[in-house]
Amino acid sequence: MANAQSRTLLLFGATGDLSKRMLLPSLYALHCDGLIAADLRIMGTARSELDDEAFRAMAGEALAHFLPEARKDDEKIASFLKQLSYQPLDASKIEGFAALAERLGDISGGMSIFLSTAPFLFTPTIQGLKSAGLAGEMVRIGLEKPLGNDLASSCAINDAVAHAFPEDRTFRIDHYLGKETVQNLMALRFANMMFEPLWNANGIEHIQITVSETVGLEGRHGFYDDTGALRDMVQNHILQLVALTAMEPPAEFDATSIRDEKVKVLRSLRPVSPNEVVRGQYGAGAVGGNSVSSYADDLGKPSDTETFVAIKAHVDNWRWQGVPFYLRTGKRLAERRSEIVIQFKQVPHNIFAQRGGRLSANRLVIRLQPEEYVRLLVMAKEPGLDRGGLILREVPLDLSLTAAFSKAQRRIAYERLLLDLVDGEPTLFVRRDEVEAQWRWIDAIRKTWADHAIEPKSYGSGSWGPSAAIALTERDGVSWND
Ligand code: BG6
Repeated sequence: MANAQSRTLLLFGATGDLSKRMLLPSLYALHCDGLIAADLRIMGTARSELDDEAFRAMAGEALAHFLPEARKDDEKIASFLKQLSYQPLDASKIEGFAALAERLGDISGGMSIFLSTAPFLFTPTIQGLKSAGLAGEMVRIGLEKPLGNDLASSCAINDAVAHAFPEDRTFRIDHYLGKETVQNLMALRFANMMFEPLWNANGIEHIQITVSETVGLEGRHGFYDDTGALRDMVQNHILQLVALTAMEPPAEFDATSIRDEKVKVLRSLRPVSPNEVVRGQYGAGAVGGNSVSSYADDLGKPSDTETFVAIKAHVDNWRWQGVPFYLRTGKRLAERRSEIVIQFKQVPHNIFAQRGGRLSANRLVIRLQPEEYVRLLVMAKEPGLDRGGLILREVPLDLSLTAAFSKAQRRIAYERLLLDLVDGEPTLFVRRDEVEAQWRWIDAIRKTWADHAIEPKSYGSGSWGPSAAIALTERDGVSWND
């Protein structure tokens, strides 16, 4: 039952920002390419008192605003909007759910729910769905973050969900898992012979993961200030990247095998000591040539929330003993960039030394965004007769995924994840044990901050974070890949 294609998709928060920017444009793209059934009913719900027509008008405006020009097609937009309907609902009151159920009518063809809501509405929403008979065997639920803000609150939400939806019908979203290059990481590791034999403490010196952004608060004042970079980005996206980079080869490409391997990594993360983590908060500065104000000014009050984190992490198992994972993320940094850098070890002996040849160790750069490429830096000899000595240089072996697959339609993460939700394909969704292992590690870091009264250090907007983040790697003789 759980993996049959649903005939109805119910979107909570349908008038919100995520819906306008991501969900509706993604569903439209799937509609255009015939990937969702033409008769899939997409019902939106939120507090606003809209009727179907007003919701379609709102969706039409969102598409006009957020779709790339090349994707706009009036006929297809019109046929897509016909798939939409709307039912207002105040999710804090249980009574409204009966009207929602009545409006939905027969859901025996299967229903997928996409729930993105304020944390305080989670439990009432789940209870409301259950009480109205909207949580039966044919219904699965996709959960968008934030799913709690520590282990205890995440467990409370997961318990409330589990009361109505068993784990195999619960699809926790981490949109990084829907990104093309993130999945390509698995292809790179497990569809090629040459990397895996070196992918361990014998071959790798350290790993860096950077998810840097140039944007600041973007109007999310309340949410962000209560959350901070550690919980907004490290707890989910960065730890999922760590898990995919560090996991053992799963026996098969399926939900259980992959998630089993990821959770082992997450459980092997060593608690971080106070000198292995740097907190930062952006000050005023310039990003992309524009001057921007400080976090406190953006927020309108002083705050001790971090907008930047750098961590030296360790995965305590055989494969990764002694290999640091340097992680960093932040807002208002110099560039928007997500990447994983694998720094291989130096060759055991430099045979070129006496001829002046200097070697750099190989480095594999997996750029997830904004560009999508895999670049292997290898040593080559500079052409010439070498009378004055032999010059060796690092040259890139480039695999541009955008160029190699130029004909393939690029899909944003939510297209894939919404389709997988409707199809009941759970591989790219996060299992409860993964989320709990993630929170356990994050809670310990927050406790360290509290115990040692560690406050965020200021960094200039447009920089790469506080100088302490540079010192974090430099004291190990490592430079960030800036
Ligand atoms: C979200 C965070 O999960 O991810 C945001 O809440 C962040 O703060 C965003 O900006 C980054 O996503 P992406 O896909 O733009 O890298």
